[in-house]
Amino acid sequence: MSPASSSLCLFLFLSIFSCIKSDELQILLTLKTALQGSNTDVLASWVSNNHVCNFTGITCNSDNFVKEIELSNQQLTGTLLFDSICQLQSLDKLSFGFNSLYGTISKELNNCTKLQYLDLGNNGFSGSFPSISSLSELRYLYLNNSGCSGVFPWASLEKMTNLISLSLGDHNFSPTPFPVEVLKLTKLNWLYLSNCSLQGPIPAEIGNLGELINLELSANNLTGEIPTDIGKLNKLWQLELYQNRLTGQLPVGLRNLTNLQLFDVSTNFLEGNLSEVRFLTNLVSLQLFENQLSGEVPAELGQFKKLVNLSLYSNQLTGPLPKELGSWADFDFIDVSENFLTGPVPPDMCKKGTMKGLLMLQNKFSGEIPASYANCLTLQRFRVSKNSLTGTVPAGIWGLPNLNIIDIELNQIEGPITKDIGNAKALAQLYAANNRLSGELPEEISEASSFVTIDLSNNQFSGKFPASIGDLKHLSTLKLQNNMFSGSIPKSLGSCNSLSDLNMAHNLFSEQIPSVLGSLPTLNSLNLSENQLSGQIPASLSSLRLVILDLSNNRLTGQIPVSLSIEAYNGSFAGNHGLCSQTISSFKRCSQKSKISKDVLTLIICFALGTVILLVSFACFFYLKKREKDHDPSLKEESWNMKPFRELVASEDEIIDSIKQENLIGKGGSGNVYKVMLSSGKELAVKHIWNSDTNGLKRARSTTPILGKRGGKSQEFEAEVQTLSSIRHVNVVKLYCKYGYTSKVNEKSDVYSFGVVLMELVTGKRPIELEYGENTDIVSWVCSNFNSKKRVLGLVDSRIPEVFKEDAVEILRIAVLCTARQPVKRPTMRTVVQMLEEADPCKLVRIVISKDGTAKKIEVKEDEKINSSA
Ligand SMILES: *[C@@H]1O[C@H](CO)[C@@H](O)[C@H](O)[C@H]1NC(C)=O
Ligand SMILES: *[C@@H]1O[C@H](CO)[C@@H](O)[C@H](O)[C@H]1NC(C)=O
Ligand SMILES: *[C@@H]1O[C@H](CO)[C@@H](O)[C@H](O)[C@H]1NC(C)=O
Ligand SMILES: *[C@@H]1O[C@H](CO)[C@@H](O)[C@H](O)[C@H]1NC(C)=O
Ligand SMILES: *[C@@H]1O[C@H](CO)[C@@H](O)[C@H](O)[C@H]1NC(C)=O
Ligand SMILES: *[C@@H]1O[C@H](CO)[C@@H](O)[C@H](O)[C@H]1NC(C)=O
Ligand SMILES: *[C@@H]1O[C@H](CO)[C@@H](O)[C@H](O)[C@H]1NC(C)=O
Ligand SMILES: *[C@@H]1O[C@H](CO)[C@@H](O)[C@H](O)[C@H]1NC(C)=O
Ligand SMILES: *[C@@H]1O[C@H](CO)[C@@H](O)[C@H](O)[C@H]1NC(C)=O
Ligand SMILES: *[C@@H]1O[C@H](CO)[C@@H](O)[C@H](O)[C@H]1NC(C)=O
Repeated sequence: MSPASSSLCLFLFLSIFSCIKSDELQILLTLKTALQGSNTDVLASWVSNNHVCNFTGITCNSDNFVKEIELSNQQLTGTLLFDSICQLQSLDKLSFGFNSLYGTISKELNNCTKLQYLDLGNNGFSGSFPSISSLSELRYLYLNNSGCSGVFPWASLEKMTNLISLSLGDHNFSPTPFPVEVLKLTKLNWLYLSNCSLQGPIPAEIGNLGELINLELSANNLTGEIPTDIGKLNKLWQLELYQNRLTGQLPVGLRNLTNLQLFDVSTNFLEGNLSEVRFLTNLVSLQLFENQLSGEVPAELGQFKKLVNLSLYSNQLTGPLPKELGSWADFDFIDVSENFLTGPVPPDMCKKGTMKGLLMLQNKFSGEIPASYANCLTLQRFRVSKNSLTGTVPAGIWGLPNLNIIDIELNQIEGPITKDIGNAKALAQLYAANNRLSGELPEEISEASSFVTIDLSNNQFSGKFPASIGDLKHLSTLKLQNNMFSGSIPKSLGSCNSLSDLNMAHNLFSEQIPSVLGSLPTLNSLNLSENQLSGQIPASLSSLRLVILDLSNNRLTGQIPVSLSIEAYNGSFAGNHGLCSQTISSFKRCSQKSKISKDVLTLIICFALGTVILLVSFACFFYLKKREKDHDPSLKEESWNMKPFRELVASEDEIIDSIKQENLIGKGGSGNVYKVMLSSGKELAVKHIWNSDTNGLKRARSTTPILGKRGGKSQEFEAEVQTLSSIRHVNVVKLYCKYGYTSKVNEKSDVYSFGVVLMELVTGKRPIELEYGENTDIVSWVCSNFNSKKRVLGLVDSRIPEVFKEDAVEILRIAVLCTARQPVKRPTMRTVVQMLEEADPCKLVRIVISKDGTAKKIEVKEDEKINSSA
């Protein structure tokens, strides 16, 4: 029918039915116009020469009136015209969930009085919900995560006595007590009110909702005890109360919920024992982590035939785990870390060959690691650190093909690492420190090509270290300290291009330090102390940017390279009686035949503007690089990323958690800058410069809890973050500046305090000092000296070497802008970060040192060849 015919029909007294039908066509075509943003052609059939009942998503009743609109999950965008929609007289189902609809939900929705099913959830609506009290026929109401906010019209629910499903969760509503209207909806079998700002106690009347199969109240601010009457909900299949502030014990009567399969009350303040859980024999997933539960794990759990996930970590549980735990169903994971559990590791949790995670860190487990796990091909995480385990690691475990992490630290485990470790193709992290492991390390370890971290410190390993280690291209941390390794340090380590932390201290390594170590592009910490190393300190080490350099207590001889003779490396060379130095007074002077002056040296400067908590400090590095290395790609600017001089005292979680879109405050050529709020209240700007492999970070993020699907969170997260620990010092996080803004990034006043901090950093002085004069602070002091070319250099901290002072002045210039007297003249935080980017004090700079010792600084362009013309 053509559009004109609808008016014609009134006119020509055609049958009333065709008239209404033509109206319905009009209504749907109008509806379509508001959905034109759609990027699918799902509405292609919605055209006037088609019958409405043949439109995609439309179902008609026997009289050919539109009865249902089902267009959920169709990638629709646009708005919903409820005034049109609700003219469809027979409409009883309206389903638009999981689209990208926007705009407000208008009060005309109330005219859809016949609706039994309404789904507007998972969209991007805005504004508050209108009262929908006329929709008294509703049986299914899904508005969860609709995008609306404000006060929800709870009173509208009062007359919806036929409601079976009610989903209102995932809303940023105004905080509200548990809505009493819901307690009268006795036909409900699905109630989803998670993450929607409920506060106060769960009313005892929740027990009236005896038809409930699913009850989800997680991630609210609920307090008080779990009401005993919850035990009346004996049809419950899922009960989710996690992330609230619930107190008291698991209520008596919980045992009546024998149909319960999914039970999660983690992250609350619950105490008392688990005896009510004994009767929940149909449990599939039990999540009680992060509470204050005590007593023993009931023996009955060992007989639960469906149990696949068990997370009890961070409680105060004692006693042993049931021997048959996890042996019945396709067990997936256990995390009972951080309790006081004793006895052996249950042997049969991987009986069905499905287990992925075994996490039992920080308890008092004893006995040996059961040999059965050597057959657990699905296992990805094996973590039993900080227990009292003894015996050897059973043959096969080292080589499990899907294992990502082996963590057996701090036990009394003995024996060797066996050759089969070469099969562990997925193994990224091996934490075996503080045990009694011994023997030689097999060459095959280098076939485990995913390695990122190997920590074997404080064991009794001996023999030569495998020369093939250079095959491990992802290896970032290698800790071998306090063992009895001997022979030379393998030269192939120079091929481990990701290495950032190398500790071989307190072993029996001998011969020379391989000069290739100096070409490791991201080496950040090098500790070779307490060995029997001899020969000269390779000049190549000068090109490294090391936070820690420890070569003490060896047998090194010759000159300490000038560039390493800096205060930061004060103790780095002690206990080597053959060393000499021109600059460090505690060493004997060298004879005058130094060769260093001929070399062309490259100098890099880095500022670490502000280390957390520690002194506000300023530091510089410089790197001297031999001319043979002049085209090393690692010298390109973007690879000089991480410059904390002192250790960063912030937890990785805090930093990584904050690397997300909403915290973005600036973008630079080599990465984004994020605002990071530490738990200590301090705020930082952190630069994320992970340009090669972003997986590490993504993985860490994806293990944070997602509502409804969780478990095993804390330990998993910890593990992923450990993968990132190398990054902390190397090339993801660039700690720019410590600053104290409190709310919005672009508030001028905050920029001011930031400027003050910058001044403190560059001058090495405090906000108020006597030398500024009376009634004067650092800002006036800096500003009054800044315009004098002579005096400006005097502002810079005297500990900053001469050649870097220009860069420091650049930073001061920004600080002066930040502290402009008139707030409007101050730049925004975003601009400041950009300016810091541009003034990046990490420029590649070449220093040519001539024979008479004078230095000349030249900026290096990336492609420019360095001539040895000095
Ligand atoms: C829907 O289309 C089919 C053919 O595709 C046709 O046979 C049927 O009559 C149409 N239904 C209505 C109600 O027009
Ligand atoms: C919708 O309902 C309101 C009263 O709530 C009424 O005034 C209006 O006429 C109705 N609109 C339609 C199109 O039925
Ligand atoms: C959220 O709403 C969707 C429909 O938009 C529904 O399918 C889903 O079950 C709801 N989630 C919960 C937990 O109720
Ligand atoms: C909580 O709800 C908000 C919407 O208000 C949503 O953005 C957020 O993802 C939800 N939180 C979780 C953990 O699902
Ligand atoms: C929870 O409620 C308390 C007061 O009872 C309030 O101080 C706190 O901010 C609330 N937390 C959230 C996340 O709403
Ligand atoms: C649990 O079930 C028992 C026996 O069926 C009953 O006596 C008791 O009242 C129930 N407890 C609760 C809290 O409903
Ligand atoms: C568990 O706690 C309840 C209530 O406090 C107590 O009656 C019961 O004896 C305890 N059970 C065990 C095994 O300790
Ligand atoms: C068990 O935990 C795993 C890992 O978190 C999860 O993927 C799986 O869905 C969970 N299974 C059940 C039944 O909860
Ligand atoms: C080097 O390692 C040894 C052994 O672990 C340790 O005692 C020493 O403190 C480390 N040196 C530095 C500078 O951290
Ligand atoms: C470095 O050593 C010198 C002399 O041995 C000493 O005066 C100075 O305080 C030391 N500096 C640091 C940071 O330890």
